[in-house]
Amino acid sequence: MISKAVIPAAGLGTRFLPATKAQPKEMLPIIDTPVIQFVVEEAVRSGIEDVLIITGRGKRAINDHFDRSFELEAYLNQREHHDLLRQIRNISELVELFSVRQKEQRGLGDAIRYAQQHVNNEPFAVLLGDTIVESDNDKPVTQQLMHLYADVRAPIIAVEEVPRDKVSRYGIIAGKEVEKGLYRLDRLVEKPSPEKAPTNLAIAGRYILTAQIFGYLEHTPPGKLGEIQLTDALNTMARHEQVYAWRIAGRRYDIGNRLDYLKTTVEFALRRKDLAEDFRAFLRDVLREPRGRRKTRARSAPRK
Ligand code: G1P
Repeated sequence: MISKAVIPAAGLGTRFLPATKAQPKEMLPIIDTPVIQFVVEEAVRSGIEDVLIITGRGKRAINDHFDRSFELEAYLNQREHHDLLRQIRNISELVELFSVRQKEQRGLGDAIRYAQQHVNNEPFAVLLGDTIVESDNDKPVTQQLMHLYADVRAPIIAVEEVPRDKVSRYGIIAGKEVEKGLYRLDRLVEKPSPEKAPTNLAIAGRYILTAQIFGYLEHTPPGKLGEIQLTDALNTMARHEQVYAWRIAGRRYDIGNRLDYLKTTVEFALRRKDLAEDFRAFLRDVLREPRGRRKTRARSAPRK
């Protein structure tokens, strides 16, 4: 029933400057794979056939990444790098990909508005381009939401519990738990202070939305950070119609902040067959070595 996904990837990535001055944050790699590739792969594994990426200024690398590169293919072919060649081709064959550019940086809510024409009144999935979500079972979180949508026929937002002192980083929801893990929402608030947060259930970067959202977005004034917030539009929506949240069983890797980015890289490296052993040994070494000794050694290194 849901065949389209929208991936907003238009943010300026200020938390990652200077790395994001001339490249999109969604292209930051986890080892050797750009974050947005994980996101597109989740959409594909969920059964999505058509992906619209909302890009902006300086985001051309995203389109290039999912496009064919004949020059690179010829080069790899000539040197008989068959595995790499297959990988590179697979990326461009993943899915039918479209893109539209957000003209001004006016927030996530505004970015979603650019999808209106493309989704053409159908319900659609939204996957934030800077967040990797891994499910605890073999069904990707987007697919879980799609299946729930078939039951409730209303927007559904993936949420997860976060520590109280982190609520101000996220959209926070409040509602009634109608079934285990499923909430009917009465309030959503974008990045509240810990004192004002109604719960510690945070919006996790995956949504199923219906075309009704566009009407609410149109009338949503700028909110937090002076931006048009999707959370605010969903809050108004929840006052007029049913909106649900689903507490995910899984892990969210927020690539939008530096420490989580680092942790993600380390975790993913420790899972890679080609790296895990050496990398684990290296980490053990680094952690075991007393700090003082490392300093001394650095200081006594011969000068060039
Ligand atoms: C956005 C949403 C927020 C959500 C978060 C998840 O915030 O506005 O509601 O909790 O993504 O990563 P951003 O990270 O763009 O500031």
